[in-house]
Amino acid sequence: MNFLVSKNGSTAFQYFSKTKTCHSRECLCSSHAFVCSLQDKDAEEKGFNKRNLSLVTSDLLAAGSQTTSTTLRWALLFMILHPEIQSKVHKEIDKVIGRNRAPTMADQANMPYTNAVIHEIQRCADIIPTAVPHRTYRDTELQGFFIPKGTTIITNLTSVLKDETVWKKPNEFYPEHFLNEDGQFVRPEAFLPFSAGRRACLGEQLARMELFIFFTTLMQKFTFVIPEDQPRPRQDSRFALTNSPYPYQLRAVPR
Ligand code: HEM
Repeated sequence: MNFLVSKNGSTAFQYFSKTKTCHSRECLCSSHAFVCSLQDKDAEEKGFNKRNLSLVTSDLLAAGSQTTSTTLRWALLFMILHPEIQSKVHKEIDKVIGRNRAPTMADQANMPYTNAVIHEIQRCADIIPTAVPHRTYRDTELQGFFIPKGTTIITNLTSVLKDETVWKKPNEFYPEHFLNEDGQFVRPEAFLPFSAGRRACLGEQLARMELFIFFTTLMQKFTFVIPEDQPRPRQDSRFALTNSPYPYQLRAVPR
């Protein structure tokens, strides 16, 4: 983080400016695209300045690192608590990918069970239960309620992720929530861990790829178990900006 973001954004600027691979607008990444835009004549006017580069870079790092790693900590916790589900994931990986090549995103379409498990991890973990607060910029009305300009709006994502009218077993880890009778993957509308609307998570696509690749790679290589000398970890969460699992220990047994 220190490497990329200094007080005035110059570290990130110097780093990306030295990367000479970009001669067109097909830039390598958002920060690189930003640096290219800094060179435009009217850059400052459009907001492409070093201070904004610093803010955008730190936003993406802050929003993108803890969220994905916390979800993966939940993932491994659910796997050690539910070995029978873990074993079904192992079987699907062995069938579709095998043990010798790395998983790719192309595999996802052929792995409904693993995909369902990852979605159920996100639903149960509910890592950002109240999303990010927003403020109305004009008077508005929602389902008969008048909301004046300047009102702070806090969404309750838990209310949909654990909605008893949608989910068969809202408070249990049950991957079948995301499978139809034929075992095909389905995604109910109430699956909203990334929130909804214009200000929904900017990194959703990236996060989904990260979760699939990291989770599948770990499961391809290891079986995760509770160490013999450890108690069964608790499944409830502790809240500090995000819902995290309590610290737990696991043993990773090479497959
Ligand atoms: C499992 C992983 C993730 C989850 C569950 C998640 C969830 C969320 C949620 C609930 C919001 C608030 C949306 C709202 O207020 O309506 C949000 C905002 C945001 N997320 Fe994520 N996120 C994840 C990963 C990422 C990644 C990997 C990135 C980028 C690298 C990212 C970038 C952002 C940004 C920039 C915002 C603010 C968007 C805005 O205000 O317009 N997130 N995320």
